[in-house]
Amino acid sequence: MPEPLGGRLEGLRPALPGEALHARVARTLREAILEGTLTEGVRLPGHRTLAAQLGVSRNTLVDALAQLGAEGYVQASPRSGTRVAVPGSTRTAAPSSPAAPDTPLPLSAWATRALAGRVPDAGGGYAVDFRVGQPVPDLYPAGAWAQALARQAREAGQAPSLADVDTELGPLETRRALAAYLNAERGARVTPGMVMLTGGTQASLDALARVFLEEGRVAATEDPTYPGARAALGATGASLCPVPVDADGLNPAALPGRATLLYLTPGAQYPTTVALPAARQAEVVAWARGAGAFILEDDYAADLHHGARPPAALQGLAPERVILLGTFSKSLAPVTRSGYLVAPERVIRVLAGTRPLTDRAPATLDALALADVLASGAYARHLRRARQAIRHRHEVLLAALAASLPGWRVTPARAGLHVHVTLPPGLSEEAAVTRAAQAGVALTPAAPLARLPRPPAVLLAFAHLPPERLREGVGRLARVLPASPQAG
Ligand SMILES: Cc1ncc(COP(=O)(O)O)c(C=O)c1O
Repeated sequence: MPEPLGGRLEGLRPALPGEALHARVARTLREAILEGTLTEGVRLPGHRTLAAQLGVSRNTLVDALAQLGAEGYVQASPRSGTRVAVPGSTRTAAPSSPAAPDTPLPLSAWATRALAGRVPDAGGGYAVDFRVGQPVPDLYPAGAWAQALARQAREAGQAPSLADVDTELGPLETRRALAAYLNAERGARVTPGMVMLTGGTQASLDALARVFLEEGRVAATEDPTYPGARAALGATGASLCPVPVDADGLNPAALPGRATLLYLTPGAQYPTTVALPAARQAEVVAWARGAGAFILEDDYAADLHHGARPPAALQGLAPERVILLGTFSKSLAPVTRSGYLVAPERVIRVLAGTRPLTDRAPATLDALALADVLASGAYARHLRRARQAIRHRHEVLLAALAASLPGWRVTPARAGLHVHVTLPPGLSEEAAVTRAAQAGVALTPAAPLARLPRPPAVLLAFAHLPPERLREGVGRLARVLPASPQAG
């Protein structure tokens, strides 16, 4: 006689997303076995009875029992029916709910430092959102990118292109196209062997930080600086040395005596947007040579200039000391996560050696599509169009600010997607951001980007907003914020 299961099995467990019915039946029985509700040797009721008890068809139950039989939880024999076949000790493996509270996670020092630096998201719902870091629809060349991806997706399946891929660094074809582009457009000195493709500048920074930094080492950054860089360098446990930025960018006289890396945005200082003058560039290179430091040149805005070309990349002056970081996550499709770094070959050899431990290699199809749009001229055409729209928005914002908020010191952005605005005396960042929010406008405060004291300032990203929204945003600001110190 089968032992009655009675109240021991209380129907099916609630379904998991996407779970098939037979899998749900199998899980219900498996969990009952692991929890000790069904003990070793217990004979299950006949198929018809058990199916009825669980409210499923006989076929579904048979499928579920076949699965449990294959896993070893039950054993069926013609004479004694289906019996539970696992010992009680298996119960220690009873599954717990994913949501169950547990002891604190044993986080590494790296994760603890990485999470400590995170800035909470201030939410959405603003009428006009000037905050930095938003995707710019004009900078997505949907047609050209789709064509290039489709072409590569078709061709990459055919030998020999699959075998040709130089995995850790990315396809040679793409590194060749990038070297040609950087030598022609950025005054850089690059060979394909100096290029590694990455998932963007953040990925490049992380790879370099892990290879060069640890506790006891020093990483210098401009101050204020890009928080993503500070976070990646600081998470290694290295000490961060903030080097003050003035109206001409980083002040070389304030560089530390000793550092392993210096993070620098010489083309358009982030966030103040000023370019580092040639004399200062030479001083920084001389310092790096003396200190044995590598300069991480973040060339994020190179392709997004609004008039005159940006100064040539610092990398061209000192290819043995400067590691150039580039990204297409602004100037092309933000969804591609495409970027690269250019470094001396001895550094590239180290990175190629460590990469198999992390993401192994860049996304090959995206990399091949990138080579395609660079070499075909589609990227250059896309940039010409996009720059025009963005330049116009920049002009609209500057004109609106000058007309409505004349006391605000606005730095026209030579490149990039935001302007830096020093607030009129007497107006704090907190007051500006709070009052703007009450008027339905979101601003990025500048203080979190700095470690050293600076005059209150805010950042206004403009490239993602059409001209009428830019004017509306400034109009809303002018209604709630002082236009000049006197009006404060
Ligand atoms: C100064 C600077 N560098 C790098 C990046 C981002 O690069 P990626 O998206 O490739 O990580 C940004 C983007 O916001 C940036 O502002």
